[in-house]
Amino acid sequence: MTRNAIASLLALVALALALAVLFPTHSAAAPPEQPIRYSHKVHVTDYKLDCRFCHVYAAKSASAGIPSLAKCMMCHRTIAAERPEIRKLAQYWKEKKPIPWVRVTELQEYTYFPHFRMVSYGKVPCLTCHPGIDRDDIAVQRQEFGMGWCLTCHRGRGVSIDCWTCHI
Ligand code: HEC
Ligand code: HEC
Ligand code: HEC
Ligand code: HEC
Ligand code: HEC
Repeated sequence: MTRNAIASLLALVALALALAVLFPTHSAAAPPEQPIRYSHKVHVTDYKLDCRFCHVYAAKSASAGIPSLAKCMMCHRTIAAERPEIRKLAQYWKEKKPIPWVRVTELQEYTYFPHFRMVSYGKVPCLTCHPGIDRDDIAVQRQEFGMGWCLTCHRGRGVSIDCWTCHI
């Protein structure tokens, strides 16, 4: 390697380190490729839509649920209808195909997680468990769902930590 090549390599390493320090959350979990560029930042932070307007089951059932295309089309029949990403959306709608979103949260099958217990009875805010998602252009799950994390909160709040509570 020439001196120049080594110098530019070192500069790249320094840049990578600087970026890691400046944007720590982004190195923790890389956002996946999604079929439509849906942004929580635009809908939640800019346009003030409530999480439960779209994730309607979070307070009532085990799964929070991903909104149906019909919900998107309530607005996007008219709003930004000419933009490329909205045309893609309308194409799925026309073909009656669900959007193949890539999941970012999933627990293992052997773990039971009833959203409504934590949301409705426990009054735990969405962003305690999905931090920063309200400002994401591409949704990222930053809080790791390890067993220790569940147990720490349950112990602190006097909720059952019996194995069968979560593993059925
Ligand atoms: C106590 C932590 C916690 C709280 C509070 C919480 N979530 Fe979740 N969320 C999770 C976990 C854990 C999963 C993964 C569940 C699984 O895979 O079974 C998840 C999954 C999801 C998913 C993926 C789809 C699904 O149903 O699994 C969505 C969407 C979601 N949460 C939205 C919300 C919204 C909206 C709120 C507030 C109304 C909320 N969550 C509150 C922990 C939480
Ligand atoms: C309550 C109305 C409303 C609903 C419901 C809604 N959106 Fe939006 N959406 C908006 C608004 C407002 C904008 C910003 C448009 C602008 O930039 O002028 C937007 C922007 C977008 C954009 C960016 C368009 C672009 O390229 O600039 C996409 C993609 C999008 N929405 C997808 C969705 C999807 C997917 C759903 C369903 C899960 C959805 N929206 C539901 C109101 C809504
Ligand atoms: C306009 C509708 C809309 C609103 C409002 C909305 N979401 Fe979402 N959310 C979606 C869509 C569509 C997806 C699937 C695409 C994606 O992952 O970005 C999603 C994905 C998610 C996921 C990842 C699920 C997974 O496993 O892939 C979580 C967690 C989540 N939302 C939480 C929230 C929280 C918390 C709020 C409020 C701060 C919120 N959402 C508000 C439409 C919405
Ligand atoms: C920030 C606090 C918090 C975290 C984190 C949390 N929980 Fe909970 N959880 C609660 C509270 C509070 C309740 C009790 C709600 C009630 O009064 O019914 C609860 C209840 C439950 C229940 C029902 C308990 C019963 O007695 O039937 C299950 C199952 C559960 N949580 C699973 C999980 C799993 C799995 C995780 C991790 C992926 C988790 N929880 C993380 C606060 C939390
Ligand atoms: C509050 C919920 C909760 C309780 C109570 C709980 N677990 Fe877990 N457990 C989890 C979560 C979350 C995971 C992570 C795997 C996943 O993604 O689902 C896990 C993972 C595991 C694994 C897989 C190995 C690993 O470390 O990832 C084993 C084995 C396990 N738990 C055993 C137990 C036993 C034994 C008990 C009782 C002493 C127990 N769990 C109580 C939530 C819980």
